[in-house]
Amino acid sequence: MTALDPDKEIPRHIAIIMDGNGRWAAARDLPRREGHRAGAESVEDVLRACGDLGVDYLTLYAFSSENWKRPESEIDALMGLLAHFLQEKTPTLMKNNIRLRVIGHLERLPERNRRQVRESIERTAANDGLTLVVALSYGSREEIVDAARALMRKAKAGVLDPEDLDGATFAEHLHTAGIPDPDLLVRTSGECRVSNFLLWQISYAEIVISEVLWPDFRREHLEAAIAEYQRRHRRFGGL
Ligand code: IPE
Ligand code: IPE
Ligand code: MG
Repeated sequence: MTALDPDKEIPRHIAIIMDGNGRWAAARDLPRREGHRAGAESVEDVLRACGDLGVDYLTLYAFSSENWKRPESEIDALMGLLAHFLQEKTPTLMKNNIRLRVIGHLERLPERNRRQVRESIERTAANDGLTLVVALSYGSREEIVDAARALMRKAKAGVLDPEDLDGATFAEHLHTAGIPDPDLLVRTSGECRVSNFLLWQISYAEIVISEVLWPDFRREHLEAAIAEYQRRHRRFGGL
């Protein structure tokens, strides 16, 4: 197993596309929801590891705006797991000084979920350790269109001169306002695509594809991804 380099930095913000739950279940002849259930354990392990390693932000892609295309039974299972996870784990978030934030269109979720999520956000609002950002009914193109719409409204109302618009102002209108861009983007299950996740924010993220299916993903796999990140030389267009 690759060890972390103590002389190199740990990424401040790690974003993860948690993929492969369905394949994990299929390989065991189990229904897909069992893969999602097992995936919740990976979330716990990775969250604990990020806290121990001193990561500041962990963003998890939990449900995309395109995932509404899935069968109702699978969506119900996912929403049930989310509600259960928040109910069970909010005390753990409190104990570990973790703050919860959500990006995406929360209003599309069932009322029960919205309430749970809002409660957890409120309860953890004053925590100043790791920030856990959960992407729920999130799609990056939608997010960018939302930002463009908000900016156009401001221009129309005369509070923003279009000539003054720059990247920083644009970023302040994304759902991720105030959150630094991810340094490391991990996708599990070997898929090499972004699937509408943080398109603006990952401009200079280092991308690591892990072959491990999300329900099998543990601290050691996260550390292997960070070790890979530490071997990279980030140039940001310079030398
Ligand atoms: C990721 O696993 C979880 C969600 C998208 C909600 P998948 O459900 O996409 O699993 P695969 O990709 O079909 O194996
Ligand atoms: C991306 O995974 C969304 C989440 C992990 C929540 P998908 O499994 O939905 O992505 P595609 O369909 O393979 O691109
Ligand atoms: Mg998938």
